[in-house]
Amino acid sequence: MFQKLNILDEKEKILRKKSEEATFPLPQEYKDYIDRAIQELTYSQIEEYAEKYDLRPGMGLAFPQIGILKRIIIIVHEYEEGKFNNYVVINPRIVSYSDEMIAAEEGEGCLSVNRDVEGHVKRHARVTVEGYDVEGNKIRIRAREELSIAFQHEIDHLEGILFYDRIDPKHQFYTEQELRLI
Ligand code: NI
Repeated sequence: MFQKLNILDEKEKILRKKSEEATFPLPQEYKDYIDRAIQELTYSQIEEYAEKYDLRPGMGLAFPQIGILKRIIIIVHEYEEGKFNNYVVINPRIVSYSDEMIAAEEGEGCLSVNRDVEGHVKRHARVTVEGYDVEGNKIRIRAREELSIAFQHEIDHLEGILFYDRIDPKHQFYTEQELRLI
């Protein structure tokens, strides 16, 4: 039986707090939340299920969004029509990034932000992320384009940062000449 997670809205102050490192072994409760997040994010990107369960499409979730201030992120990336890769990273860190910046042309969204926020969010085009898998094995992921944006967005949540904090009110939108829009 599919049961939706209780994802906190941006008005909840907990979303503005800094998360702590998780320690291993992870409690079973955390593993269960991770599994549910993968399922929910996957369903949310499949129209039939999104409609059936009334899910807003989203590709990532960070633990503070379910009220747990631990450094755990989950990303479900549709790399090809109908095909998904899951990324679960415990205590993620960006260890290197490209100088080149990009932005999602349509702006970013967040499952905790239940309104449209207009503006381009400048992100690194490529990042390398290090951290641990659920069993505590060290992992390293190279991400580019949309996936790179997702990692930066989710890691920001662990610092209490929401995507619109990074929209420059004096320069809300960029042209293709100023910034590569994807
Ligand atoms: Ni978000």
